[in-house]
Amino acid sequence: MPTTPESAAYRSALEVIGAVDPVIAGAIAGELGNQRSQLKLIASENYASPAVLLAMGNWFSDKYAEGTVGHRFYAGCDYVDVVEGRAAALAKQIFGAAHAYVQPHSGIDANLVAFWAILSKEVEAPALAAAGVNHVNDLSPDAWETLRGALNGQRMLGMSLDAGGHLTHGFRPNISGKQFAQRSYGTDPTTGLLDYAEVRRMAQEFRPLVIVAGYSAYPRRVDFAAMRSIADEVGATLMVDMAHFSGLVAGKVLTGDHDPVPHAHIVTSTTHKSLRGPRGGIVLCGPELAEFVDKGCPLVLGGPMPHVMAAKAVAFAEASQPSFRDYAQRIVDNARALADGLLRRGATLVTGGTDNHLVLLDTNASYGLTGRQAESALLDGGVVTNRNSIPGDPNGAWYTSGVRLGTPALTTLGMGTAEMDEVADIIHGLLAATTPTAASAGPSKAKYTTTGGVADAARRRAGDLLTRHPLYPSVDLT
Ligand SMILES: Cc1ncc(COP(=O)(O)O)c(C=O)c1O
Repeated sequence: MPTTPESAAYRSALEVIGAVDPVIAGAIAGELGNQRSQLKLIASENYASPAVLLAMGNWFSDKYAEGTVGHRFYAGCDYVDVVEGRAAALAKQIFGAAHAYVQPHSGIDANLVAFWAILSKEVEAPALAAAGVNHVNDLSPDAWETLRGALNGQRMLGMSLDAGGHLTHGFRPNISGKQFAQRSYGTDPTTGLLDYAEVRRMAQEFRPLVIVAGYSAYPRRVDFAAMRSIADEVGATLMVDMAHFSGLVAGKVLTGDHDPVPHAHIVTSTTHKSLRGPRGGIVLCGPELAEFVDKGCPLVLGGPMPHVMAAKAVAFAEASQPSFRDYAQRIVDNARALADGLLRRGATLVTGGTDNHLVLLDTNASYGLTGRQAESALLDGGVVTNRNSIPGDPNGAWYTSGVRLGTPALTTLGMGTAEMDEVADIIHGLLAATTPTAASAGPSKAKYTTTGGVADAARRRAGDLLTRHPLYPSVDLT
């Protein structure tokens, strides 16, 4: 077989790296082998294209470029400007946003930029205007202390963790929870769905500065028009964190009231999940917040990473192709097929199904297993997932009672609904053959036994699916 450009590129790269540190070259090759041998159902992961990956491995990494396009604190940023300008223009185009900031290094960073842009506009700017100064350095020590108190004394309303929210939406282990007084809205205990009347009631009672919508583990669509009307009623800023589903927005599967961009004041996203780009984040907003968002570095971010912004631009160029719409639709079709396959085999799913890219399997109700046991038993069978809390989880955040299953990665491999039914069969077969190990205080929450031979058979079936749908088929390292 003739050598492809991708094989040549990676073989050469590994040769160069291996000459300095063979351990790292070996780990890079080993990781490819690992990823090629497992069915990846982690909802927050994907496989970026070789073009995206290659755009990150170069001398742009060497350049400092604090500031924004055309306004840098460092000289020699001509090509960084090309990269950042193109990434921002493409992000604006694919999401229909007025302004895009492509510097955040991750989803957490994008959220921090958004929170501080809101605080800068709503709290700091009015305080500076009232004091008749333009810059925080011009405030008296007393006025500065008062402003610092105000910046740190604001309220945030976000989705609860067990309903699928994210730690960065005002929870105490994250800086957002140390800074904001937070209350969280959950989901309806009977349907598992968001209850907008309850969100409205809480917003009216709590009067937050910021309402955060968006999730890591909610298997349904969100009505962002409803969330905006709640925010408007209480004078709050609506921030949507679309880290998980931005690929479905770019691919025009989530449109109208389900597209956050026209409804939210400010939108954040990761670039590496369903959007299928490099590790990173972005912030989208209208003109009123743009000047504050653009101060993300050095407000909360370190210097921009031009090599990653280059890879973001390549990923956004891919997401602007018609084939990406087809990809996004297949992600959702596959999630539904996976959910249907599990339901037909008797499993219990949170909300009874899905209409996005993820499925939340209640492992306790379905198989009498904690999420931790299910996650480990699935991994034994070549299926990579992550355990996840379910609403009102009786097993807490460590053991949990669910596993989260997402289809973006397997869809990238070209698998379709028939393969999803087979994946559902593999998952069900593994978990139905797994039981918690008995311990003196009752069944263990961590240890388990899977009937002999079942994990081996599952691994063979997973291997067969992966042979038919290989990862990075153009990359041969041998
Ligand atoms: C909704 C949401 N926001 C933010 C993040 C954080 O992203 P990152 O890991 O890139 O900081 C995640 C990832 O887990 C997420 O699911």
